Amino acid sequence: MLKSLFAIIPIELKTKKKVVTGNVRGKLIVLEGLDGSGKGTQIRLLSDYIRSTGRQAYLTAEPTSSSLGGMIRDALGGFVGRDAYELSALFLADRIFHNVNPRNGIRKFLDEGIDVICDRYYYSSFAYQGTDADLDWVMRMNLDCREITAPDLCIFLDVDTEQCDKRIAENRFDREIYENIEMQRRIRARFFEVFARLKDSDPIRIVDASRQPEAVSEDVIRLYQELVTKEGNDQSLTDDYKNNR
Ligand code: TYD
Repeated sequence: MLKSLFAIIPIELKTKKKVVTGNVRGKLIVLEGLDGSGKGTQIRLLSDYIRSTGRQAYLTAEPTSSSLGGMIRDALGGFVGRDAYELSALFLADRIFHNVNPRNGIRKFLDEGIDVICDRYYYSSFAYQGTDADLDWVMRMNLDCREITAPDLCIFLDVDTEQCDKRIAENRFDREIYENIEMQRRIRARFFEVFARLKDSDPIRIVDASRQPEAVSEDVIRLYQELVTKEGNDQSLTDDYKNNR
């Protein structure tokens, strides 16, 4: 019995060591913003940049395209009524799946040394579901969940609600349940409230996204460069931007 136990231990240690030394972990970069804030364009420009440096980038989004994501989209489209707590739990389950699924989960790519760029993450749950459900509860169940990876960088693309509303009107045939201007105002305020609460723990950076996409992209890429070169310091864009608001 004892002998067989000793036979197992060295194999486990060997396997662990292989995982740790095999790759430098990729970075998890999250883009957040109101509907119509230009996340899609910025994600594309950032991934082009990352690939031009020889690193690999995997692009992903929440809600995912899993069956849970489908349930969420039915609710967002107004086809199925869901309570805010129910919706929070669906987003949580989808996020856990998004992290751990072995085929194309976030963790798998990070472990392989690939940077993951995610269109929305738990900050959206805080701002969107935390508006109707209890914010503390929504935050706790996401932040305390060990299966959900903490981002290395969260970039919030800030555009005023009127401008977002105009972009939504130009690009969509119909609107989802959150896509009305009054709701977007409340959600934007929630984002800033959450960022203030997390300012000492989370790497959140706010970028003025009301400018031309190329100018916004320069800032996004600069923040990514700061992250990978570790040259960033506390004098971030967030501070510059806040001082000028
Ligand atoms: P979607 O149409 O996929 O695209 P976009 O992100 O470009 O707006 O919208 C996703 C919607 O899901 C958006 O209205 C925000 C909402 N959402 C939440 O309410 N909670 C969450 O946790 C996430 C990830 C998204």
